[in-house]
Amino acid sequence: ANAHVGVVGLAVMGRNLARNFANNGYTVALYNRTTARTDDLMAAHGDDGSFVPSTTIEEFVASLERPRRIVIMVQAGAGTDATIESLLPHLEEGDIVVDGGNAHYEDTRTREEALRAKGLHFFGVGISGGEEGALNGPSIMPGGSKEGYEAIGPLLETVAASYDGTPCCTYIGPDGAGHFVKMVHNGIEYADMEFIAEAYDVLRSAGLTVPEISAAFREWNTGDLDSYLIEITSEVLDQTDATTGKALVDVIADSAGQKGTGRWTVQIALDLGVPVNTIAESVFARSVSGHLDLRAAGREHLSGPAHSFTPEDKAALIEDVRQALWSAKVVAYAQGLHLIRSASEQYGWDIDVAGVATIWRAGCIIRARLLERIRSEYAAGQLPTLLAAPSIAAGLADASDGTRRVLARAFEAGVPVPGFAAAVSYYDAVRAERLPAALIQGQRDFFGAHTYQRVDTEGTFHTEWSADRSETRLD
Ligand code: 6PG
Repeated sequence: ANAHVGVVGLAVMGRNLARNFANNGYTVALYNRTTARTDDLMAAHGDDGSFVPSTTIEEFVASLERPRRIVIMVQAGAGTDATIESLLPHLEEGDIVVDGGNAHYEDTRTREEALRAKGLHFFGVGISGGEEGALNGPSIMPGGSKEGYEAIGPLLETVAASYDGTPCCTYIGPDGAGHFVKMVHNGIEYADMEFIAEAYDVLRSAGLTVPEISAAFREWNTGDLDSYLIEITSEVLDQTDATTGKALVDVIADSAGQKGTGRWTVQIALDLGVPVNTIAESVFARSVSGHLDLRAAGREHLSGPAHSFTPEDKAALIEDVRQALWSAKVVAYAQGLHLIRSASEQYGWDIDVAGVATIWRAGCIIRARLLERIRSEYAAGQLPTLLAAPSIAAGLADASDGTRRVLARAFEAGVPVPGFAAAVSYYDAVRAERLPAALIQGQRDFFGAHTYQRVDTEGTFHTEWSADRSETRLD
């Protein structure tokens, strides 16, 4: 019993994480339900480090030093529960079970409670960075007991990515906090990807070629927009299809998939009453893209504007789109971080937003230059919203004209920009002196006697709309 850590589930993420532990000098116990995967890993990488493969779960558990540290890397859902069930009879008090999948945080809360009752530490750990990240350094978002973190945290911090020497892994909070933060990470990822797609679409419909757009992204990646997603976008755009000789992006079917984390982000935001309209529009945009019958009907029956969209000055348009992209991205982060703060209050997680920004700076899919700015703004003090941070507010003010020009042009030309529009609408709503919500309150009072408050005096009021229209004060 000398393995430092064990990995159950050796599909690509589990396999790469196991190799990452081994590359960092840990002895790694391995178990997979079908032994072929374990054998494959041993055949290909068994000599890269110290592995202890097992063919039964008993053997696997027995090969671990105590307290045992076991990382489950199976498909989220029933597979996770089945794995936990199979481990339980062999575990002892103080052992640590980590779920590294994209679990729903409510499931993580349930599992944590059940395992805590048995004297075990259960960790719901968000791991971002895809296959490459799992092998070379992901961003890791662990949620569970503080005590358990002392035993598992140092290992996770060692295998995580690092930014200026700081690991992209930090204790997030109890029970579901880590998986919640990973879910919001994915919600922001959806928004970021949607904005990039809209930026591309606006430029494309203005007549720019795919190579010109790719060059614009590459250029943007040297400035404020510097990020992994911008970088891979130019690579995707550069790819030529071997069969047709066209840009690959022109032969990929235009309906986007999704596995659930973006949708969960929006569902939970609705429950907590936190406006995340950029993320919601990003989920809906993927959903619209997949409704092929709806789109066929739309193409057949609906006409667009007569306007075509030819810019006089390509360079100026590219700069405007860059500004629209940056502003929208900032709004999506503001919304995601707001959601994290609300959930943290709701569940008593005490999540440090600066800490979250710290571990998103490298390793994860949304890693971006902007995150260092977000970290330093939150480290400098509490913020009611990211948008209120001085450097962010100033950046948004600078980008405002360009952003609005992009929206105006897109609407005139009939290019769908739901993400950009959501971002600007949110920005304008939160900075408005007065909102038309006053009129909505009037309507609610009219048809349902739902009452309203006044700006000039305390109390709850109702107008007798269908009688003499006099106002009464109800309390
Ligand atoms: C990551 C990614 C990863 C994955 C998601 C989203 O952080 O490494 O977010 O978790 O890409 O599963 O995938 P979908 O787009 O399929 O929902």
